[in-house]
Amino acid sequence: MQVPDLDVGRRFYTDFGLNSEERGNDVIFRCEGRDQDQLQLIEGAPKQLHHICFGTTEEEIPQIQAALEKAGCEIIDAPKEAPDGSGLWWRDFEGMTFNVRAAEDTRAAVGAEYVTNDHVNKRRIGRLHEFFDLPQIKPRRLGHVVVFTGDLERKTKLLEETLGFAVSDSVGPFMDFYRLLTGGDHHVVACIQSHAPGLQHVAFEVANADEVHFGGRRMLDKGYLDAWGPGRHAGPGSNLFHYLRDPWSSCVEYFADIDYIPEGHNWEARRYMPGDLPDFCGPAVPPSFNVNFEAMNPNSERL
Ligand SMILES: [Fe+2]
Repeated sequence: MQVPDLDVGRRFYTDFGLNSEERGNDVIFRCEGRDQDQLQLIEGAPKQLHHICFGTTEEEIPQIQAALEKAGCEIIDAPKEAPDGSGLWWRDFEGMTFNVRAAEDTRAAVGAEYVTNDHVNKRRIGRLHEFFDLPQIKPRRLGHVVVFTGDLERKTKLLEETLGFAVSDSVGPFMDFYRLLTGGDHHVVACIQSHAPGLQHVAFEVANADEVHFGGRRMLDKGYLDAWGPGRHAGPGSNLFHYLRDPWSSCVEYFADIDYIPEGHNWEARRYMPGDLPDFCGPAVPPSFNVNFEAMNPNSERL
């Protein structure tokens, strides 16, 4: 992300539970116990998404480049702000910048087993639940990113044809959720129809329901703004969620218990209509939730 003030950004994402380090002029964030960059803050104005980076194998990069060129994407040099400009960089039809590079699969920290009682199975016997106050929640990994687009149909086709994404589910004609066919979360990217591109949210996985609740509550206690939650998506992804506003009005999410779709699974993509989605699994979605604040900035030219 490009942000106008690195110190403000560092404070927010550190309070959120990420570990920061300086690299060149930028601030890099990782998750506790996971050896992979998750978020990069680059100083500049206005606040906006700078690029999205994916990992793959070395052998796949030439195939992806061929697909991108066939689809009319502009292959570009690594931006000078990128501390490690390796891999393949491109801009899509609406100026959104992407990078794909060779990367190892990196495990997230496991942590203690989460032991619960339900009405049938009593597993936590003779002892209290572990949490007694509001601990600093440490997210395990960046799980997905959701962006606005000026042309959802075109964006979906492009992501399917160039990066091999598959649509897991949709909401009406205005939101598509994409997964990787090699198996993984219900969505690693989602796009929302808007009048222009922009960042809607980045989502970090935490271990369980308690951590979603404690993480959100702790951020509210620190004075940060609520966006939506806590609740459970009774629809795409099925995950528990709590969204907060970052200092520039993009959302950041704590999530847990998302649907997992293995490789080769015959997942039936659904098209939910907004009125069909149950609205009882948390607070009602605020009207501001899907406002493209990034594109409302009159100085928000794409990089
Ligand atoms: Fe999300």
